[in-house]
Amino acid sequence: MPGYELIGKEERNAVNELFDDGGILFAHGFDSMRNNRYHVREFEEQFADYLGVKYAQAVSSGTAALKISLIALGIKRGDEVITQAFTFVATAEAILDIGAKPVFVNINETLNMDPDELENAITEKTKAIIPVHMLGVATEQDKIHAIAKKHNLPVLDDACESLGAEWGNEKLGTQSDISAWSFDAGKTIIAGEGGMITTNDRELYMLAREYHDHGHMGNEKLPRGRDTHRIHGFNYRMTEIQAVIAKVQLKKLDYIVKQNRENYSILESALSEINGLKFRKIPNQCKPLCDTLIIQLGSKNITKKLVERFAAEGIGTKNVPDAIEWHFAKYWDHMCDGLGLTHDELVTQLKPSNEIIERCVALPIMVKVSDDAMNKKAASIASLIKTVF
Ligand SMILES: Cc1ncc(COP(=O)(O)O)c(C=O)c1O
Repeated sequence: MPGYELIGKEERNAVNELFDDGGILFAHGFDSMRNNRYHVREFEEQFADYLGVKYAQAVSSGTAALKISLIALGIKRGDEVITQAFTFVATAEAILDIGAKPVFVNINETLNMDPDELENAITEKTKAIIPVHMLGVATEQDKIHAIAKKHNLPVLDDACESLGAEWGNEKLGTQSDISAWSFDAGKTIIAGEGGMITTNDRELYMLAREYHDHGHMGNEKLPRGRDTHRIHGFNYRMTEIQAVIAKVQLKKLDYIVKQNRENYSILESALSEINGLKFRKIPNQCKPLCDTLIIQLGSKNITKKLVERFAAEGIGTKNVPDAIEWHFAKYWDHMCDGLGLTHDELVTQLKPSNEIIERCVALPIMVKVSDDAMNKKAASIASLIKTVF
C-alpha cells in the first residue's frame, strides 16, 4: 500500500544531504548558497518523466493541486463542477473554495463516476468535470472523455489515489486536460504532505505555476525580486525537504506497485473461490494500482456482520467503511449551502451510490509482507467471509 511503509534511511540520508549542501529549504533563489541543487524542480522533472507528460508543478498538497487546477481552467464563482459521490472530501472542498458549486453524480459498480449520470447532470452552468480514480482504479475514462468532448468541457483528473495505475499503455492520470496528485501520509509515495499538477498544456501549466507562487511568472531574465506578474496568486509552494523525500520515494514507486500487485493477487485468488462474493468492477483498459481490494456482498446486513468479524480479528478496512464519512458525499451536510441542497435532497440524490457502498468492504494491501504471511492472511480473510454466507 502506501509509501509510509518504506520510509527509512534513504529518506533520512536525503534530508541530511540537503542540510550538508547549505540547508536551503526554499525552492527558489539563494542561488550562491545551495550548491546548485533545486530539489523541487528536480522532483517535478522526474515526476513528469515517470508519467510521460510535458509539465509538472509541485505544490503543497493534493487539495491545493485540485484548487489550482480549477483556477488554471478558468473556473469561477457560480460555475458548476461535476464530480462523483464517492471521493475524498478534498475534491468538493477545492470546488467550494473558489466559490463554484460541486455537483455529485452517483457511482456505478466500478465505484467511480457513472458516465450515464454524468451526462444527465450537465447544465449550461457546468464548466468542468472531475473524475476521481478512487483507490487505484480508473474511472470509465473513454466514456467520460467522449461526453466531455461532446459538451466541450475540460476534464481534471483527481488522481490522488491512483499513482502507479495504468490505462492501456499509459500511466493512469495522463489522459485528461490536467491532473492532481497527492503525496500525503497515506498515498502511494509520500512526503508527509505535498501535491503535484500535471498537464501537457503549456498555458494551463503556466497558470498553475503562477497561481501557486503569488503570481510569479518565473521570468528567467530577471532576478526573483523583479519578476513579472499577470494574475494574482497565493502561496501553495512545496518545500525542498518535501521534495528530497519525495524524490527518494519516487525511486521506490515501481517496487511498491509490484509488491501491491503480487499481494493483491494472492488475496484475490484466495477469495475468488467463494460463491456469491463479487469484486469491484475494473474497466478493461485499467491495470489497477492494487493497493486495495474491494469486495461486494449481498446485503447491507451481511456486510455489517463481516466488518464486525474482521474488527474482532484485528483486520482493518480502508475508507469503506472505516472512514466512509470522509469519502462519501451523503455525509457532507456541512456543505449543503454550497451544494444548494437540503440534507434530505442530498441523501435522496445519492441513494444509488449508497446501495452500492453499503455492500462493499475495502481491504488494504500492504507492501512489506512476505508471501507466506500474505497467504496466511488471505486464508484467514477467506474463512471469515465464509462464516457470513
Ligand atoms: C481522492 C483524493 N483527492 C484529494 C486528496 C487530497 O490530497 P491531500 O491530502 O494531499 O490534500 C486526497 C487525499 O486523501 C484524496 O484521496
